[in-house]
Amino acid sequence: MAGRIPQSFIDELLSRTDIVEVVGSRVQLKKGGREWKAPCPFHNEKTPSFWVSPDKQFYHCFGCGAHGTALGFLMEHDKLPFPDAVDELASRLGLEVPREDDGRGARERPGEDLYSLLTQVTQFYRDALKDSEHARDYVTRRGLNSETCVQFAIGYAPDAWDAVLTRFGGAEERVRRLLDVGLVIERSGGREAGHYDRFRDRLMFPIRDIRGRTVGFGGRIIGDGEPKYLNSPETPLFHKGRELYGLYEARQALRQVDRLLVVEGYMDVVRLAQAGIHYAVATLGTATTPEHLNRLFRVTSEVVFCFDGDRAGRSAAWRALENSLGHARDGRQLKFLFLPEGDDPDSLVGKEGKDAFEARLGGAVPLSEFLVGQLASQVELGSVDGRARLAELARPLVQRVPEGIYRELLLDRLAEEVRMPASRLFELLGLDGSVPAARRQQQSTRPRPGTSAGRKPLLTQAIMLVLHHPGSARAVVELEALRALPERGIDVLAELIETAAGNPKLTTAQLVERWRDRPEGARLAELAAAESLVPDRAAAERELHTAIRKLVAAAGPGKRLDDLIAASGERKLTLEEQQEFQSLLESRHAPSAPRD
Ligand code: UTP
Ligand code: MN
Repeated sequence: MAGRIPQSFIDELLSRTDIVEVVGSRVQLKKGGREWKAPCPFHNEKTPSFWVSPDKQFYHCFGCGAHGTALGFLMEHDKLPFPDAVDELASRLGLEVPREDDGRGARERPGEDLYSLLTQVTQFYRDALKDSEHARDYVTRRGLNSETCVQFAIGYAPDAWDAVLTRFGGAEERVRRLLDVGLVIERSGGREAGHYDRFRDRLMFPIRDIRGRTVGFGGRIIGDGEPKYLNSPETPLFHKGRELYGLYEARQALRQVDRLLVVEGYMDVVRLAQAGIHYAVATLGTATTPEHLNRLFRVTSEVVFCFDGDRAGRSAAWRALENSLGHARDGRQLKFLFLPEGDDPDSLVGKEGKDAFEARLGGAVPLSEFLVGQLASQVELGSVDGRARLAELARPLVQRVPEGIYRELLLDRLAEEVRMPASRLFELLGLDGSVPAARRQQQSTRPRPGTSAGRKPLLTQAIMLVLHHPGSARAVVELEALRALPERGIDVLAELIETAAGNPKLTTAQLVERWRDRPEGARLAELAAAESLVPDRAAAERELHTAIRKLVAAAGPGKRLDDLIAASGERKLTLEEQQEFQSLLESRHAPSAPRD
């Protein structure tokens, strides 16, 4: 029988998972302020009342009351039992689910040390760059300065068959791990069994995930040769269709990412950043996938695809357009920028600098223009037949755009081109829904802050404050006093505070998951889903302090004061107790403290 999944693993899983990504890969989410919303997947509705909070890592539907963590969502939505939901999240992260086993000790988590192995190798390559004159010369020739090399952790894979193998290999298990992350290759054939380094004599670009951990590498040959770039293979940690080179660095460099520029190469990203354009990312030798787009639009609302001006560039742009249609919607801008033939962003920004390059961005073509323009160029617009053909070509494309204002604008634009009323074109294209329905202003049903919260009992308020802002628990000094209170439910509050205070980065979701199998779990999840009482941690700290004081005071300061006096006769009071003592004395002398 499989043992229990350790709480620490659930914690880790939730800390590395973004609920917005998990839900977003199953439900089309729209940004609404700090949160994300959608029509609820658990009940039938037109206007969205389903909200996902990145801060709390929690979802909640104001319509049907569904709520929970990323794990809860998978259980509800994918109809998975708890262990399978854990498996699902773990496999997204390349982690194996450990089990608390019967005395044999906790099993190692392979995912965990694969990350640390890649971190060490990243450093090894960086050191090798410092040691190699030939590699440093190449870096200089490519116009990269040392600051940029540091920012992107650029390194060098030595010109040897076994540099990484010797440094990180050895025991069979260690070689196995190198194989798992794609750093070494198994020698094929007979008695010459063994392994060798995948990357040799190459400039190394670590590919980092959104949390800054190296998950793979791109290696450029020094000078000319084939292949020019070598990438890590797909591994448990690295999926080309998911990662974007430079996204981590962009988010490090910019507080707010107003737009992202999608370019083709490593060098483009790095040289643009060096020129002061910190918002470029590259797909890794693949077309832009829907998963890439999900990632991009989670960070920004404007994505500009940048392509060469030649035929190959145009056709790559068209592929990107086709993949983007499903992501085109209100509040998102998708644009296309074509560079002069023979140039890439690297060479161009080198020649003309930041301002001139950014000026080009201003002239990027919106997706709708690019689409209509490309189609129009394929038909004879002067003839009725040609215009009918245009509508025909547009049909499969427009159908992929989600219903909404954006699709209507696109249709308006097309209608203009084919000289036909939009409503007629709409019918002709066989689209679902109707224009008037889509035009109706979608009104959020979300209650205004405060209205749903109402006035809750003090204890409930305190519990909600800790749930919504776990960071506030650290400021609580009255834990002992609290524990001494007779009120039912106090133990839950005390345990919440203790847990949150002891694990400073805990999110609402992680806190709630700890109660999954306990009687209070359901109630806590409900409170976690409720509207926050206060906007931020600082406010939560103040409110929590007040609530706890009131709770303690309400339970009868006299009794507690007596206890403390008795205790002080036997031992020295803790600092906490002294403060409490002081505040009890004060409240006793205060003119009738208001009760809640
Ligand atoms: P390019 O051939 O346009 O290279 O490939 P580049 O970015 O201009 O590189 P430099 O300036 O010559 O150094 C663009 C991207 O396509 C992928 C890489 O991700 C590269 O950055 N690629 C290219 C490969 O994966 N393998 C290759 O052999 C070539
Ligand atoms: Mn180039």
